[in-house]
Amino acid sequence: MTISHAAASQQAPARKVTVATLAALRARNEKAVFVTAYDYPTSVYADRAGVDMLLVGDSAAMTVLGLPTTVGITLDEMLVFARAVCRGAKRAFVVGDLPFLSYQPSDETAIRSGGAFIAAGCDAVKCEGGQRIAQRVRAMTDAGIAVMGHLGLTPQSLGQLGGYRVQGKTLAAVERLTEDALALQDAGAFSVLLEAVPAEAAAYVREHVDILVYGIGAGPHVDGQLVISNDALGSFVGDIRPRFVKRYADVGTVVEASFRNYASDVRAGRFPAPEHCYPIDPAEEATIHAARPSVVTASALATSAASEVPVLLDATTARELRDVRAARVFAEARA
Ligand code: KIV
Repeated sequence: MTISHAAASQQAPARKVTVATLAALRARNEKAVFVTAYDYPTSVYADRAGVDMLLVGDSAAMTVLGLPTTVGITLDEMLVFARAVCRGAKRAFVVGDLPFLSYQPSDETAIRSGGAFIAAGCDAVKCEGGQRIAQRVRAMTDAGIAVMGHLGLTPQSLGQLGGYRVQGKTLAAVERLTEDALALQDAGAFSVLLEAVPAEAAAYVREHVDILVYGIGAGPHVDGQLVISNDALGSFVGDIRPRFVKRYADVGTVVEASFRNYASDVRAGRFPAPEHCYPIDPAEEATIHAARPSVVTASALATSAASEVPVLLDATTARELRDVRAARVFAEARA
């Protein structure tokens, strides 16, 4: 029996997205779909949905760990998330986000940190900054690591930027962004991510560089769109609501309502129901039932009440009942 081409291609494992795939998307004028992921299930669902790129973002500090900014997360913590995401990504290109101080101090630090993400299974790493970190980017690319730059609103420099502010709002600012993007390109970066810049600013940068340009809050004139998955899915616990986020679900509300329903079922005794319990042979069930301490104590109580003979519960009996709580109930009932 022969298998049709359609059936065979359905069974074939999806080809892993590479830098070459991303360049081909751009050449065909197709947008890359890019979301953040920090865990295995999100990675699997996004991969199955055909998402092209996953960012294990240091936004995990805020979305997963509940920290106020991104700077508190460590490289070791990021690597745990990265490994989980890489396990789930059969097709998607995975970018590991270098956390604060994991690449700034020296070229060696950058190579070691970037290399740790690659060893964890990532396809590339991302770091924030332009000209001022170009030397670190060069060190990593020379070591064989694919690097994505990150310009515009760079959350690791919030103090310098004065908070979550839109960047690149004047021609002079856009020219500086472009110089930074060119410095990353010269250092060997394969792409740059622009965050929170006007659409025209992103278009200007893209027209001045040869590398791939992705955007998050950077309008439509870029090679692909990134979104923080918790923002898109409605599961971010916090007050930051960027203008550029479009909500595709309200997962937080669904989760909270589900826990409320579960709590009320447990408290009302509706869960577990018989269909949630494991069946056994009825004869074994009857034997176990008859041997249960509460059944024994109930029948002992009934016997003592009928005969008016006091039942003494000593330590040995309690041990035989194998249930200290039942023994306590029994003793209280006798008192
Ligand atoms: O960590 C992250 O998710 C990011 C995006 C905000 C660009 O760096």
